[in-house]
Amino acid sequence: MKLWTFLPWLPCLLVCIMCLGSECGTVRRMGRSKRELVRIREARTTFPGACATRLPRGKRSLPGMDRRSPRQHRRSSQAEESSPGRGKAVYFTGRGDQLRLKPGVEVPRGNFTLEMWIKPEGGQRSPAVIAGLYDKCFYASSDRGWLLGIRAVSEQGHRDPRFFFSLKTDRAHKVTSITSNARYLPNQWSHLAVTYNGQQMKLFVNGAQVAVSREQSGEIFSPLTKKCKVLMIGGNALNHNYRGAVEHLTLWRRPRSQQEIMMGMRSHGHLQLDDPSQLVIHETFENASRKWLTVKDGSFPQAEYGGRAGPGEMAGSLDTALEPPPCGQTICDNVEVVTNYNRFWSFRKPKTVRYRVVNVYDDTHRKPTVTEHQIHLQHQHLNEAFRMYNITWELSVHNVYNSSLRHRLVLANCDISKVGDEECDPECNHTLTGFDAGYCKKQKSHCPEYKQGNGVCDPECNWDNYYYDNGDCCNPNITDVTKTCFNPSSPLRAYLDVKELKEILNLDGSTHLNIFFANSSDEDLAGVATWPWDKEALTHLGGIVLNPSFYGTFGHTHTMIHEIGHSLGLYHVFRGISEIESCNDACLETEPSLETGDLCADTNPTPKYKHCRDPEPGNDTCGRRHFTHTPFNNYMSYADDDCTDSFTLNQVARMHCYLDLIYQSWQTSSKPPPVPMAPRVVEQGQDALTLEWFPPITGHFYDREVGSVCDKCTEGRVLLQYASNSSSPRPCAPSGHWSPREAEGPPDVEQACEPSVRTWSPNAGMDSSSVGSPPCPLQGCMLQLEFQYPLVPDSLTVWVTFFSPEETQLPAIHNILLLTVSGENVSLGPRNVFCDTPLTLKLDVKEEVYGVQFFTTEQHLEIDATLLASKPDCSLCQACQPLHYRLLRQPPFSHAPHGLLLSDTSRRYMDR
Ligand SMILES: *[C@@H]1O[C@H](CO)[C@@H](O)[C@H](O)[C@H]1NC(C)=O
Ligand SMILES: *[C@@H]1O[C@H](CO)[C@@H](O)[C@H](O)[C@H]1NC(C)=O
Ligand SMILES: *[C@@H]1O[C@H](CO)[C@@H](O)[C@H](O)[C@H]1NC(C)=O
Ligand SMILES: *[C@@H]1O[C@H](CO)[C@@H](O)[C@H](O)[C@H]1NC(C)=O
Ligand SMILES: *[C@@H]1O[C@H](CO)[C@@H](O)[C@H](O)[C@H]1NC(C)=O
Ligand SMILES: *[C@@H]1O[C@H](CO)[C@@H](O)[C@H](O)[C@H]1NC(C)=O
Ligand SMILES: *[C@@H]1O[C@H](CO)[C@@H](O)[C@H](O)[C@H]1NC(C)=O
Ligand SMILES: [Zn+2]
Repeated sequence: MKLWTFLPWLPCLLVCIMCLGSECGTVRRMGRSKRELVRIREARTTFPGACATRLPRGKRSLPGMDRRSPRQHRRSSQAEESSPGRGKAVYFTGRGDQLRLKPGVEVPRGNFTLEMWIKPEGGQRSPAVIAGLYDKCFYASSDRGWLLGIRAVSEQGHRDPRFFFSLKTDRAHKVTSITSNARYLPNQWSHLAVTYNGQQMKLFVNGAQVAVSREQSGEIFSPLTKKCKVLMIGGNALNHNYRGAVEHLTLWRRPRSQQEIMMGMRSHGHLQLDDPSQLVIHETFENASRKWLTVKDGSFPQAEYGGRAGPGEMAGSLDTALEPPPCGQTICDNVEVVTNYNRFWSFRKPKTVRYRVVNVYDDTHRKPTVTEHQIHLQHQHLNEAFRMYNITWELSVHNVYNSSLRHRLVLANCDISKVGDEECDPECNHTLTGFDAGYCKKQKSHCPEYKQGNGVCDPECNWDNYYYDNGDCCNPNITDVTKTCFNPSSPLRAYLDVKELKEILNLDGSTHLNIFFANSSDEDLAGVATWPWDKEALTHLGGIVLNPSFYGTFGHTHTMIHEIGHSLGLYHVFRGISEIESCNDACLETEPSLETGDLCADTNPTPKYKHCRDPEPGNDTCGRRHFTHTPFNNYMSYADDDCTDSFTLNQVARMHCYLDLIYQSWQTSSKPPPVPMAPRVVEQGQDALTLEWFPPITGHFYDREVGSVCDKCTEGRVLLQYASNSSSPRPCAPSGHWSPREAEGPPDVEQACEPSVRTWSPNAGMDSSSVGSPPCPLQGCMLQLEFQYPLVPDSLTVWVTFFSPEETQLPAIHNILLLTVSGENVSLGPRNVFCDTPLTLKLDVKEEVYGVQFFTTEQHLEIDATLLASKPDCSLCQACQPLHYRLLRQPPFSHAPHGLLLSDTSRRYMDR
């Protein structure tokens, strides 16, 4: 048994259309005061240094894919699964269902260890106390004792929530608090342990010691105050309630070592006791009322079988999720995945990809945007460049005959909402926008009153301040509006932005890579591309926009090759030096690496440079001035056509991966997506091995037609769906930014906790020129989201990615209302959220839900996405056929020399 090869096999054709953890790429978040849209801007040829490219950060994995945890590892065996005494989890609702240890149990005064498994929900009060010891006699000093909980580390208390352990002995003047090294993971099981030995307090997460302090010492309390001490779980006396599950809580009279903690974590609740007197409580919650009391009139928290709580956890025991590195976006950025694409040619077999050139003519079929000669020259060069990398482009041309369109300027980089917005936006500064409706003009012209609206379009009156000569300049009876109409609200204006162009053309983006032209005289713009992880990648708003001067003309055919590189997931080779925000940026590239910079280890770090040689030593960039063996010959550099001639192997691996991950529907063949990794041994016995493997790279589990419900079914036949329909009584900005539609589909904000136009926000209608939107009514501003398939839900996940730091007193979400098919709507009440962690809500609803309403009084709140998950074994997923896998072994299985055909959703096989 040496070599395992592995191929997925599907009985019928299938085409992939979904994208994994989609994330939008070309928009960068600016400060709240100046919400701005910056697209990738290529200035390869003419304007040195004009490129304002900023590439996205942050990552997101598919729910269901991101729930693997060390916990599952310990649960891998079926035997363990059914062993007695495994215990239950208790679920705290965060609404005061706390538990208090009954009197009579002696809580340790000095040395102690507390261990437990927890599965915290996303979104908590800050702080939220999971367990704590407090003093009921000294109300004045509520911080006496210790607490284990979750707290947002940032000043405003709504970002970066981490585990904390705080302790104050009765004699100490102040409390000491230590926090974990990273944000907690919502809706995942984690093992927590805290120890105190009279000198040091320590915090362990999943067995790793993550914090320590020596500030407190000695006994926590004296024997005299023993009767005052109360141990609570699920909250504290100040109602800092925890929301989530707790399982296997153990309290010891002794500081346990890290090794003991790790052993306890793996022992799956079976305690090995050297000295039973050291154990204070071992609570499995089989019958919690024996030792615990509810607080006041609170109800008992719900007990449930541990580990059965959510989807994804039914999965096997692969304990690695295929996460991208901090500087990456998707599974294709994962080092192991892309390394396999690099090492094994079978991942890079020839692929044929369709692209479509959109050529606009006037009504008389003349004046095409680009000539046939350009199209053919470009096509030839394109295929020459890509052929050796096993990528072939198949051309089709789409002609549009429309004079009105042909004669208008297409602004490739300027968002229409920014024209005439009382600020000069350089990317909108053009003669045909009237220099941003006058705001980019240094000398503002004066228009005498008698000329205003006199039936002649007077240039000095043609700007926002004079209402564009009182309408004269947009009146087609008076003037050639294609030259003079600068009014952004006129339908006859001389310009369009790219989004408007794409909306008018409305070309399917799922069958071809569409190539548009920004018929712009704005010479510094060479091209704009959509990243594969953009929400738009496969829609009519995706594709590439090129300047016709840099398309199919001699010496200018590499621009399209470069842009296609972006479309297939390649970054600039200079990303790690010239496109980082600071020297602390996770993408800073100090040596060539798969995890930083352009995520390719075979392109050396380089600053942005346009010449065909290594750059001269320049200014210090994060400690470095000299760059040698720089990849100036690479298509993803900014050198011109004479110089660039190649992609590297790592780049080719990335492109093939993104073709599999996102763009299967652009390809002529419909091969199933590959499984990116070899199977792993997850269990090993005397005479058997259990193997488990990852699903195909797209993360699909079932055979499916495009758009069928099986697209959305995941392990355990859990149906996961993002909102597909949206509405709000609030007004929308003309640009469509912050409109309800932005909350549809998967999350696509690339930087949490910063304002983003790709969200719904109540103040969408507020742009500087208008009066602004009305304040939210008393019940809150409302967003309604609906889902394609009504179902009995198990959980709701909401990405609230921004809200105003000033208003932290009240929960950011005022109320959440579940809309049920029967009409009996369910109110979930106010909710605290963190802007960098999705809000997760376990639901206890027996009816089918088709939608959800959010209410907020927070004008600046932004909602990015909402996901509704069904209970396991959802009836809508019943008909879905699991993918088939062919498992091959070397030496071959004696009973199946050509491999075993398996269709088990668990993706496990035990070989004896
Ligand atoms: C903690 O245990 C150590 C021995 O392991 C003992 O010396 C010390 O007194 C104990 N501390 C307290 C505060 O009980
Ligand atoms: C749980 O404990 C309570 C109190 O000790 C007892 O009355 C009850 O019978 C127990 N239930 C079970 C199922 O053990
Ligand atoms: C292209 O595919 C062939 C197999 O058809 C393979 O041998 C070769 O290594 C591939 N080339 C690249 C650059 O991936
Ligand atoms: C022609 O283009 C204009 C925009 O300039 C658009 O409004 C119109 O719908 C287009 N006509 C057709 C037939 O597509
Ligand atoms: C706008 O463009 C014009 C000409 O293209 C230029 O003279 C002017 O300086 C620009 N304005 C700004 C503010 O960039
Ligand atoms: C232009 O002239 C036509 C016909 O004379 C008239 O119907 C139309 O209203 C005029 N348009 C404007 C904007 O004045
Ligand atoms: C170095 O920095 C100075 C000042 O910021 C700037 O003027 C100069 O152009 C820079 N030199 C290079 C080679 O980038
Ligand atoms: Zn570029």
